[in-house]
Amino acid sequence: LPRDLFAPERKNSTGVEFGHADSLAALRAEIAAAPAFIDAAPLIDGLAVKGRSRDVLSPIDGRKVGSIVECDEANVTAMMAAASAGFASWNATSVDVRAAALERAADLIEDNRGRLTALLQSEGGKTIDDCMSEVREAADFCRYYAARALNDFAPKTLPGPTGESNQLRHCGRGVFVCISPWNFPLAIFIGQIAAALVAGNSVVAKPAEQTPLIAFETVKLLHGAGVPATALHLAPGDGKVGAWLTGHAAVAGVAFTGSTEVARLINRALAAKDGPIVPLIAETGGINAMIVDATALPEQVTDDVVMSAFRSAGQRCSALRLLCVQDDVADKILTMIEGAVRELRIGDPRDLATHVGPVIDKEAKDKLDRWIDTMASHDALRFRGDAGPAGGTFVAPAMIELERASDLKEEVFGPVLHVVRWRANELDTLLSDIAGNGYGLTLGIHSRIDAMIDRIAARLANGNVYVNRNMIGAVVGSQPFGGNGLSGTGPKAGGPNYLSRFALEQVLTVNI
Ligand code: NAD
Ligand code: ALA
Repeated sequence: LPRDLFAPERKNSTGVEFGHADSLAALRAEIAAAPAFIDAAPLIDGLAVKGRSRDVLSPIDGRKVGSIVECDEANVTAMMAAASAGFASWNATSVDVRAAALERAADLIEDNRGRLTALLQSEGGKTIDDCMSEVREAADFCRYYAARALNDFAPKTLPGPTGESNQLRHCGRGVFVCISPWNFPLAIFIGQIAAALVAGNSVVAKPAEQTPLIAFETVKLLHGAGVPATALHLAPGDGKVGAWLTGHAAVAGVAFTGSTEVARLINRALAAKDGPIVPLIAETGGINAMIVDATALPEQVTDDVVMSAFRSAGQRCSALRLLCVQDDVADKILTMIEGAVRELRIGDPRDLATHVGPVIDKEAKDKLDRWIDTMASHDALRFRGDAGPAGGTFVAPAMIELERASDLKEEVFGPVLHVVRWRANELDTLLSDIAGNGYGLTLGIHSRIDAMIDRIAARLANGNVYVNRNMIGAVVGSQPFGGNGLSGTGPKAGGPNYLSRFALEQVLTVNI
């Protein structure tokens, strides 16, 4: 393999040992010192836009945790103009300077882990271990893209005939619009921005409407790390703001993570524009299956299913939605899983003993509750757990039994596990049913038979396939993440091919 396909020399961040009393106490003290309330606003050239604000409420208990001024159309126009003006000087800085800013950002993320965790909890409803994983992933993205950029964007001499030199060079495309979801409001938000910036683009970042406070703090942190305020702007607001941005004439590229439905809208909006063809990098949803055969180890399957389906309250794009268990072992394995799910503690995510926190907001809760009720009315509900404390947007973990894999037609984005059984002579039908949903994000396989693993992985073209382990928590640089088909365009985040999509390439051929 060519040398630069490998990740450059670099280390991922280290975590916190929650079982170590002093480490946990230190983290708790940092969380307690964080501000209880944040007033946030759009940032144009680093200046906060003034205007009417709305309250930001915590999904844990409905408490007000901040306020946000959202962009109007005039703000978007002004921001795109500012980002266009900021592009030239940032693009002219050397890649070393841009990478150094990301390195500093990674250090600042780690230094501010308590403050970021407090926000991820209060605004995002995340458990402490999910917060720490996210803080680490955010730092890892910054360091990985910094290291990659030094490697990938260094001018490369290419072979050619005698008397001619050929050099491959990269530069930014212009204004990159980065649109992110609420479920990784720090890691995905900063990952997109870091990649776009280090390639030389100026960036307008549009966070999800549910998590504007974390976005505001993160943009200020990047400015503090040395990213010029003229090169990075913040556009809080809902889908309307996203549509104004992607419809703007100055947009040179879009990085989007969110639902397949919105990715299609953006794709159509970009296709309808005059001028240069604008690239879209879209990372979207999935109906992720795990296939368990009769040779799998039941205890390991149980652990991995509970982790994959219920950690983060099932609000990961990678989460397990559809468990497919071979009939011979299904009764035993499903009874064990149900027993484990009954033991999950639903509650305040700030409590270390909590396994499942709230879902993001009331709209998400109502949609999930309606789905579980509908399945109950069709006699498909196997189990529904504890509903969690009143006042927050908690959803009781549920298990639903379906006849066929093709019965699940939509991504159900919460703590709900769907189950189907299959007989040995039905494997091909099962695989066709799964492939038929058109998604291709994560896939889990539990089997001790190599030929079975190869057969399943060859038939299903998912982007991330996990064998005999859980199927969440891709590690930057080790498990580049992203799906195929309805799950995204690629290239994979945290992987060797990601950065080049953010850059323009130029080959300089000189007759010497
Ligand atoms: P969403 O698609 O509703 O929103 C994502 C972002 O798009 C938000 O910032 C939203 O304001 C914006 N948006 C909405 N309408 C828009 C429009 N017309 N034009 C431009 N922008 C618009 O998704 P969500 O509910 O925030 O996140 C959950 C979804 O994200 C799930 O489907 C999940 O699977 C997916 N996701 C995928 C990955 C991945 O890496 N593949 C990672 C995390 C989440
Ligand atoms: N990258 C996240 C995971 O793998 C979404 O769970």
